[in-house]
Amino acid sequence: MKKKRILSGAQPSGLLHIGNYFGMIRRMIDFQDSSDLFCFIANYHSLTSINNKEELEKNTFNAFSDLLALGLDHKKSTIWVQSHVPEVTELTWILSNFTSVGLMQRSTSYKDKVANGLSPNMGLFSYPVLMAADILLYDATHVPVGDDQKQHLELCRDIAQKFNTDFEIENFLQVPEPLIQKEFSRIMSLKDGSKKMSKSELSDLSRINLTDDKDLIINKIKKAKTDPLPMPNTLKELDERLEAKNLLGIYSSLTNSTLQKSVENFAGKNFSEFKQKLSEALVDKIEPISTEIKKLLDDKSYLDNTLLEGVERANIIASKKIKRIKEIVGF
Ligand code: TRP
Repeated sequence: MKKKRILSGAQPSGLLHIGNYFGMIRRMIDFQDSSDLFCFIANYHSLTSINNKEELEKNTFNAFSDLLALGLDHKKSTIWVQSHVPEVTELTWILSNFTSVGLMQRSTSYKDKVANGLSPNMGLFSYPVLMAADILLYDATHVPVGDDQKQHLELCRDIAQKFNTDFEIENFLQVPEPLIQKEFSRIMSLKDGSKKMSKSELSDLSRINLTDDKDLIINKIKKAKTDPLPMPNTLKELDERLEAKNLLGIYSSLTNSTLQKSVENFAGKNFSEFKQKLSEALVDKIEPISTEIKKLLDDKSYLDNTLLEGVERANIIASKKIKRIKEIVGF
């Protein structure tokens, strides 16, 4: 049987934190042995939120070195920067003509972004069509999606089906299947157990970045919010004690353990004792990653060459596909 082609894009939006790592990235790393993994830095998409040349360039480069440092292997997978294969924008235009405005207007992520103060320009509006082009240009069979991206994948499936039907070419555009993310480790802010850990939260104390050093990690965990009770005795208690739940969840992810085991391990103990163990586990995990990130960023020519290899592979597939698509529509 042919291997699944799993495709995912990551926006280069600045420093990565452990929430990103335990979410999407760790899954991608697991996929690279069992599938034909395609992974790109979605810098065209970032133009919807960043309009500063230096920032966009720097973030794109950093995102790429982060992925490598975390364990994505460019020999096993195809890793590239979205804008280096510009055919995807040509496809976006073509696909726009098979996209219902009504469906686009129902996009909750668009509505959320506008509600959060982003100005509703056309880029932000047509963002999901570009995402569909990313997926369809490379014949992806599967796309990992969290809750926020499910609707975008649905739209992509609709577009592909409409294109295939209109031109009477069954299965020409590969209709992708979602790989639904298990909610195994949603990491929350260290300052508020009800909010997701996020790069956009003002206080850096709310997150552990993959470039934080030992002292910083210890300090952030020391200052992480808890409650006045000793460590919880049962899983049930965690429903009411979100900060304890989050810290225990992080500890469980780091030690590949279950939440149940971690609760048992520290039941009734002081937070300070647990926090010390948590800091140690975090430092063990993150120090090698931050060292690797620094090493990669110092070796620009290695990064450039690695980037080129990925783009070449991506390009072979993209240029064949866009050529066929243009013939089909009559260009
Ligand atoms: N929209 C995705 C996000 O913000 C990034 C992305 C762009 C993507 N193109 C994609 C993800 C194609 C999966 C497939 O997280």
